Amino acid sequence: MGVKFIRIGRLDEFNPPFTRKEIAETIARLIEKHGDGFVNKKTPEQIIKDPARYFLVLLIEFDDGAFKFLPLGCFAVNIVKQPCALLKSVVIRREYRGMGLGKKIIEIATKYALSQKPCIEAYVKPNNQRMLHILTKLGYKIAERNKKHIKLVMHKNTLIEEIMKHLQKLKI
Ligand SMILES: CC(C)(COP(=O)(O)OP(=O)(O)OC[C@H]1O[C@@H](n2cnc3c(N)ncnc32)[C@H](O)[C@@H]1OP(=O)(O)O)[C@@H](O)C(=O)NCCC(=O)NCCS
Repeated sequence: MGVKFIRIGRLDEFNPPFTRKEIAETIARLIEKHGDGFVNKKTPEQIIKDPARYFLVLLIEFDDGAFKFLPLGCFAVNIVKQPCALLKSVVIRREYRGMGLGKKIIEIATKYALSQKPCIEAYVKPNNQRMLHILTKLGYKIAERNKKHIKLVMHKNTLIEEIMKHLQKLKI
């Protein structure tokens, strides 16, 4: 029986065996095939040049002495933007949705962003109920709403409050 594990890393963190360009191409394909029109398509060149940091979620399987790789999802965080970081390009491969992966990667992205900036924001289309559900469940608050998008924001303090609530429940 093979061993499976998930690795999350930035463009150059899979080298070897993959080059930065190959990872950017993989992310561009994921967005195109699985972004459901909620995520703007990107070329690999745009991904490489973008000031946002793109992350790939890769399922790695080792079986019969060989490695197999399956891209499960991606996300990007722009920490250059002021004053808040920006979460974007969150995608989970269609067959792997509904297993908690989307929530997990958004949690990772949020913690990363809030270690660098005082707040993080995300823009979601009003009909993207799944994304809105995940963000509000994680503690993001609606800051603005118009016909095109809903802007949600999470502040560093909110994250600390959420962690404290969780610890209190565990009675630690
Ligand atoms: C948004 C996305 C990343 C979520 O990934 P996922 O792995 O399916 O998400 P999870 O399994 O972690 O969580 C799904 C949650 O949404 C809830 N959900 C599912 N469908 C829903 C709906 N139609 N309305 C409200 N909530 C919904 C689930 O019940 C679950 O919540 P729970 O943990 O409270 O039970 C994925 O659907 C995706 O890639 N969509 C296309 C691209 C996209 O929309 N990106 C965001 C652009 S802003």
